[in-house]
Amino acid sequence: MRQHAPQIEIVGNATEVTERAAAHIIARMRNQPALTLGLATGSTMKPVYARLVTATRAGDISFKAVSSFNLDEYVGIAPQSPGSFHSYMQQHLFGHVDIEAGQAKIPDGMAGDIAAEAARYEALIAASGGIDLLLLGIGTNGHIAFNEPGSDLASRTREIRLDEATRIADAGNFPAPASVPECAITMGIATILEARSILLIATGPAKAAALAAAIDGPIGPACPASALRLHDNVHVVCDQAAAAALAKRPHDNNRRTA
Ligand code: GLP
Repeated sequence: MRQHAPQIEIVGNATEVTERAAAHIIARMRNQPALTLGLATGSTMKPVYARLVTATRAGDISFKAVSSFNLDEYVGIAPQSPGSFHSYMQQHLFGHVDIEAGQAKIPDGMAGDIAAEAARYEALIAASGGIDLLLLGIGTNGHIAFNEPGSDLASRTREIRLDEATRIADAGNFPAPASVPECAITMGIATILEARSILLIATGPAKAAALAAAIDGPIGPACPASALRLHDNVHVVCDQAAAAALAKRPHDNNRRTA
């Protein structure tokens, strides 16, 4: 498979990452009002969504014609439960912008048949014409969405058992680490790679090893984010701390160091 070099933008700190990522999304939304977005959750995305809310309130952008597909959801957690990604999206984005009800899709983690729900979700993405811009964070173990290490690069939307490290990282959204769900439904790596463009953001030293493995390590299931190098339109925005373990590329013109 042909490899590509992601465009990597390294800025000084997490606030600048938020500003750059939000500016990129805002520009795309202004350019293409009926954009189909892929949306991530996690703490890295919260300030980015806050910027999009501010821009919507200021009248700079509108979600009126936007469709969105979230990457993943826990299995067995009711949408209204505080730890669900449904709640997260409502709290950080959907509750504050003018997106049409029904145009913001999230996998149903309460579906009785998760395999059928996964197939339905894939069909919805295909019927929408595909994702124009997909936002991604990265797990400390190199996961994208909930594609944990070991995930097949050809994987599609499916149920996955979460790694212990992921459940610990996500424990803050639940009353106790033991109450973090054991499984999730996630877009697969192949599903993600079908998006027409991808924006990955990473901040802080905890992401340095995973980002280095994704950008400089072997492409394979050990680091699911490494699969992004099989895509020809990936833009990475990260801060100096997250970029600390990247190999030096003195002649790489794609880089902009703040
Ligand atoms: C979560 C999500 C991912 C997210 C990642 C990093 O568990 N499933 O979509 O990108 O882990 O999250 P954070 O930004 O909180 O570090």
